[in-house]
Amino acid sequence: MAIDDPARDGVRAPELRPANPRFSSGPCAKSPAFTLEKLSGAPLGRSHRAAVGKERLKAAIDGTRTVLGIPEDYRIGIVPASDTGAVEMAMWSLLGPRKVEMLAWESFGAGWVTDAVKQLKLDAEVKTAEYGEIVDLGSVDTDNDVVFTWNGTTSGVRVVNGDWIDAKRAGLTICDATSAAFAQDLPWDKLDVTTFSWQKVLGGEAAHGMIVLSPRAVERLESYTPPWPMPKIFRLTKSGKLIEGIFKGETINTPSMLAVEDYLLALDWAQSVGGLPGLIERADANAGVIADFVADHGWIANLAKDPATRSNTSVCLRFTDPSIADGAAFAKAVAKRLEAEGVAYDIGAYRDAPPGLRIWCGGTVETSDIQALMPWIEWAYHAERAALA
Ligand SMILES: Cc1ncc(COP(=O)(O)O)c(C=O)c1O
Repeated sequence: MAIDDPARDGVRAPELRPANPRFSSGPCAKSPAFTLEKLSGAPLGRSHRAAVGKERLKAAIDGTRTVLGIPEDYRIGIVPASDTGAVEMAMWSLLGPRKVEMLAWESFGAGWVTDAVKQLKLDAEVKTAEYGEIVDLGSVDTDNDVVFTWNGTTSGVRVVNGDWIDAKRAGLTICDATSAAFAQDLPWDKLDVTTFSWQKVLGGEAAHGMIVLSPRAVERLESYTPPWPMPKIFRLTKSGKLIEGIFKGETINTPSMLAVEDYLLALDWAQSVGGLPGLIERADANAGVIADFVADHGWIANLAKDPATRSNTSVCLRFTDPSIADGAAFAKAVAKRLEAEGVAYDIGAYRDAPPGLRIWCGGTVETSDIQALMPWIEWAYHAERAALA
């Protein structure tokens, strides 16, 4: 039952509840078409190197190319350790021969900066912006290597387009696109390494990452050997040549065929809603509902300052009421109240981000659920203010 004390807080608990209260920013909600039974055809207990396993892994690669519109001459690989594995593999394999610009405007980008500077000890120029803002992309020289995150999951700030990346650049662009792929247009001609994981926009399972390599990234891999040791799970080359099998489904180590089957199901669903344009439309509609709600209420705002940079996946909100003394405690209490009501799980801001809420709006979330959630946020806000009073 909803907690309803209109005499105390003046706002009644809404009647309507989101049918699915899962608004986590990762692992993200399963697609509306998902059922466990649909995975029953997975080749469990079979070798991933048997024909049946290889066929499923190759299908995952091919389906990714189709849905995302990845050019034929780009390699797509399934790699260990989710998006983190894919980004680290790229940085450890490719960086070093050129100066690198490391861009960060939230927690995950900041993590890649730390690794480049403190672990790889690279000659890096670090450019950062506060949560809610983005670095001056016009200042980036793409004759250097550049590492950046397309959609900052913990700040809800995204790159608007790839116009700042020179089509004739000498450097490589390494892009963590894990909360952008399948929700935002990615300019493949401007991206040399793109990474993402299944657990994000398509609501797949964690553990496996994907790495997309441009021909120029492959050229670098085959012409440059880093001075540091390379763990087996990062190794993309053998004797100076690309290990082509990785990009045909011959994974470096053993994948979960259940996770693969789940990803294939998610790709099928993606196609059923109109492929990438359909997915973008769904995410835009979801984020649009929140934008309208925020515009109508003076006590809440989007963390992203420039509307053009506002994410359509990880929408981050902050409470702006100046009478709230402890913003972090307030936001946590609102999120807890909504979770206790069973209307929204996991919507507290990321641990390193400014206090607030973060609502996942990727395509697997139904717009009707975002619509149903908004009155609950209003209710929780007023209930929490009343509790403070
Ligand atoms: C932008 C970004 N990069 C990296 C990660 C890490 O992803 P994974 O846990 O799939 O490795 C996340 C997860 O939320 C993310 O949002």
